[in-house]
Order: sequence, then structure tokens, then C-alpha cells
Amino acid sequence: MRASVLLFRSLLCLSALLGGSKLASADNPIIQTIYTADPAPVVHDGRLYCFTDHDLPNSTFFNMTDWRLFSTTDMVNWLDHGTVMSLKTFSWASGASAWAGQVISRNGKFYYYAPMTHGATGAMAIGVGISNTITGPYVDALGHPFLENNEFDPTVFIDDDGQAYLYWGNPDLWYVRLNEDMISYKGTPAKINLTVAGFGAREGNENRTTSFEEGPWVYKRNGIYYIVYAADCCAEDIRYTMGTGPLGPWSYQGVLMPTQGSSFTNHPGVIDYKGHSYFFYHNGALPGGGGFERSVAVEPFTYNPDGTIPQMNMTKKGAPRIDTLDPYQRQEAELIAWEVGVSTEVCSEGGLNVCNINNGDYIKVKGVNFGGGKGAKSVEFRVASAASGGTIEMHIGSTDGTLLGACTIPSTGGWQTWTTVSCPVSGAKGIQDLYFVYTGAGTGDLFNVDWWRFSKGNH
Ligand SMILES: *[C@@H]1O[C@H](CO)[C@@H](O)[C@H](O)[C@H]1NC(C)=O
Ligand SMILES: *[C@@H]1O[C@H](CO)[C@@H](O)[C@H](O)[C@H]1NC(C)=O
Ligand SMILES: *[C@@H]1O[C@H](CO)[C@@H](O)[C@H](O)[C@H]1NC(C)=O
Ligand SMILES: *[C@@H]1O[C@H](CO)[C@@H](O)[C@H](O)[C@H]1NC(C)=O
Ligand SMILES: *[C@@H]1O[C@H](CO)[C@@H](O)[C@H](O)[C@H]1NC(C)=O
Repeated sequence: MRASVLLFRSLLCLSALLGGSKLASADNPIIQTIYTADPAPVVHDGRLYCFTDHDLPNSTFFNMTDWRLFSTTDMVNWLDHGTVMSLKTFSWASGASAWAGQVISRNGKFYYYAPMTHGATGAMAIGVGISNTITGPYVDALGHPFLENNEFDPTVFIDDDGQAYLYWGNPDLWYVRLNEDMISYKGTPAKINLTVAGFGAREGNENRTTSFEEGPWVYKRNGIYYIVYAADCCAEDIRYTMGTGPLGPWSYQGVLMPTQGSSFTNHPGVIDYKGHSYFFYHNGALPGGGGFERSVAVEPFTYNPDGTIPQMNMTKKGAPRIDTLDPYQRQEAELIAWEVGVSTEVCSEGGLNVCNINNGDYIKVKGVNFGGGKGAKSVEFRVASAASGGTIEMHIGSTDGTLLGACTIPSTGGWQTWTTVSCPVSGAKGIQDLYFVYTGAGTGDLFNVDWWRFSKGNH
């Protein structure tokens, strides 16, 4: 059982390659190993987590089957937590509509509201996953849909008085008050009154009166209620409205992010983290990207004094780094600022590992703080290889920058047969962007990497 599971995972890894792009100075999109969409950021225990759904390569529709999680402490290096919930979690779900959801925490538990097709009715319904940890795995809290009216894109928030609200919808904007248990609700769902004053007039030639299309993101900040949403399909832009209460009245604020980025949809996620404000969205910026192969990206912004949000464009630059990375603690190989050519998979030793490593592939991690003095003297890698291994080169600043060292990776006899390799390094001082460049003979996979750790002592 276990062996066949691992074999299956290896095959998944082989198929996940998105192809190379040498955008070494880019940090957007934030994930390059897979296509991601519909970001839902949340801060928990000092980390910023970003839940996403997952587009498959070469898709011709929104055929999606699982939900993914990534996290950061510095806005540039993103840790891959893998699949945290999938359509298989919900026995009543059918089809392939694992679309935009959001996670919220209450009373020590985490609740994942997500849309999917209800097999028995064929309609879009909203399910709720539950977990004791933010990283899941989430299980079906109810065994049946939480609610169902053939609309989707749930967003959830808890007001200061403790009342939780779920909003969702396309073409209407629905809401319902949740009970304290977060898995039942009060009364019946109702519609938010989409007045032109609150949501802006429709500009496209369609029957809808207001600009609201889908993907609401509702939150409260400094006493102001915000609904940020995808508007004026298709292509969509992002607009927002500000309210004095959770149900309005609303005051339309216009376009926050124009139609850009070769995806005809977009989806907002707005969050404050470590004293900064961030706007998450998606576009088609990765190689092979488009309307059904989307990627999550982020822009930093500053609220105006009156709480309004400045208009912003999509960029390849993304958010600046706000912290450093400690190379003397074990760091997961799947902590990535930018990569070319690699994938991630479930690791037999827990968490994920990096796989699908071929000659010339690389991973960049940013802001590695080697410190002063003599800096690092050695590095360890946890590796496995059913092939004949290869070499991990460590470069500073670029893939051909100063070489800190090169570590020979042996065959271990299996892709999940792990060993720790230690090698000398020199010149690793100060705060650096570090490139792990993988080399080896042949065109196949070379080896897998689970984690790495530098040391100030000799190896
Ligand atoms: C996607 O299409 C490209 C071009 O046709 C092809 O090379 C690639 O193998 C396909 N990828 C997958 C995962 O099917
Ligand atoms: C993708 O979704 C479309 C629309 O629901 C459906 O017709 C098609 O069969 C789906 N394809 C796959 C591979 O699930
Ligand atoms: C929606 O709001 C507008 C403006 O406040 C108001 O004129 C209208 O009656 C409301 N519609 C409903 C159905 O409540
Ligand atoms: C507008 O609604 C009418 C009546 O339901 C429908 O026939 C028409 O196709 C709709 N137009 C658009 C652009 O959706
Ligand atoms: C966004 O891009 C447009 C077109 O290039 C430019 O005119 C505008 O100033 C940009 N806005 C911001 C906030 O950078």
C-alpha cells in the first residue's frame, strides 16, 4: 500500500513540470511549481498563510480538484504545505469544481468554506472543511453541503461583536449569519442590496445592473467594512466598496486593480501582516499561463488616511522582503522564492520534498542571513536518489554568482530512501540571495531534496 502510494506520488511529481523561465529578478507569481488561483490569505501564529485552489496544466476549463496551502514569514520565501483539502474530502461532491474558498479560525479550530458541485443536484454548493491545525488535512464537517443555491465564491468574517458572516455569489451577492459553531447558520440566506450607489454601474453589455460579478472578499479594518470583488466580467477587474455596517449601506470606491495579466478572471485577498498591507490576486503570468492556468501574485500597498485603497497594477516585482531567513536552522527544500524546473511531492519523512530535479534547474531563496565573522563553514542536505545523483551548487546573487561550494549527491537506491550529505562551503557571509543550482548527467531526474541546513563548524 505504502509503496504504491509513494510510486503514485513520484509519477505525480514527474507530470507537474511547468517549464523554464529565467525571470531571476521576479518574485511574482509567488508560486511557480504549480498553477494556483483565488488566493485567500490569513495570519496565524505570526505566519502569513495563503490558501489557493489549483489549476492543472493545459486546462480548457476550471476543472480543479484540490486546495493548496503556502505560507511565509518574509513575503518572499513561500513554504509549500501541499494539498490540505480535496474533492475526495466531500463524499457528496462530484465533478471538478474545487473553486475559490476561505479559511477562518474560531475557538481553536479552522473552518474552510469552499464551493463544489453537489453530485445529487448538479448545482454548485458550499461545503465546510474543519481541522484542528491550520495546515490540515481538513475533513468534511457535515457530510453534506453547508448551503446550496448554485452560487459560489464564499468569503467569511467575524465582526467585533462575535457575529460571523458568510458572503458568496455570482451573479447575486448573498449573505447569512453563522452560529458560533461556524457549521450552522441563523435564518435563511438573503441577498445584499446591490445598488448602483454601492457597487457602481455595469460597464459591460450585460443584463446585470451593477459592476459586481463574483469573488467577494469581505473584511473590516479600523471600523470600515470592505467588500472587494471581481467586477465587470469578462475580462474582470477588481473593484471595492466601503460600508458602515456588515450589510451596508455601501459606498462605491471604483477600480482597485484594472484588467491586466492574461487571465480573464481575477480574485482579491486583502490582509495586514507585520505592519504592512498586501493585496493578493491572480493572473496568467507563468509560462503556459492563461485563463485556466492561473497564478497567485501579491502587491504591497498603503491605505490612504480615509481608509480608501490606492489603485495598483500587477507587477513581476511583488512585495519586498520584510524579514531574513536563518540558514543555521533546518529549512525545508520546498521553501522557495523562485524556482525553475522543480516540483514538490509528499515526503515519506513528513511534509513535502522537492523532486523532479533536472540538470540546470534551480531554487532561489532570498535574504539568507549567514551573519558576520567567518560565516558558514559547511552545509547539510537531506537527499534521496534512485538515479545516480548529481551536484548541488550554491551561488550568491544569481545562478552564476559567487560559488560557495558544490555538494555531490550520491545514489541512495530510492526516491524516498533518504540520507544526509555534508559538504564544506566558504564565503557565506552577510544577508544574501542564495541559489541552489542542480547539475548532473543525463536528461532524467537526478535526486530529491527534503531539507538543508548550514553550520558555522567544519563538517
Ligand atoms: C501541455 O501541453 C504542452 C504542449 O502541447 C505539452 O508539451 C505538455 O506535455 C502538456 N502538459 C501536460 C501536463 O499535459
Ligand atoms: C471540465 O469541465 C467541463 C465543464 O463542466 C466539462 O464539460 C468537462 O468534461 C470537464 N473536463 C474534465 C477533464 O473533467
Ligand atoms: C436597495 O437600496 C436602495 C438604495 O438605498 C433602495 O432605494 C432600495 O429600495 C433597496 N432595495 C431593496 C430591495 O431593499
Ligand atoms: C439578457 O437577458 C435576456 C433575457 O433573459 C437574454 O435573452 C439575453 O441573452 C441576456 N443578455 C446577456 C448579454 O446576457
Ligand atoms: C498602472 O499602469 C498604467 C498604465 O501603464 C499607468 O498609467 C499607471 O500610472 C499605473 N498605476 C500605478 C499605480 O502604478
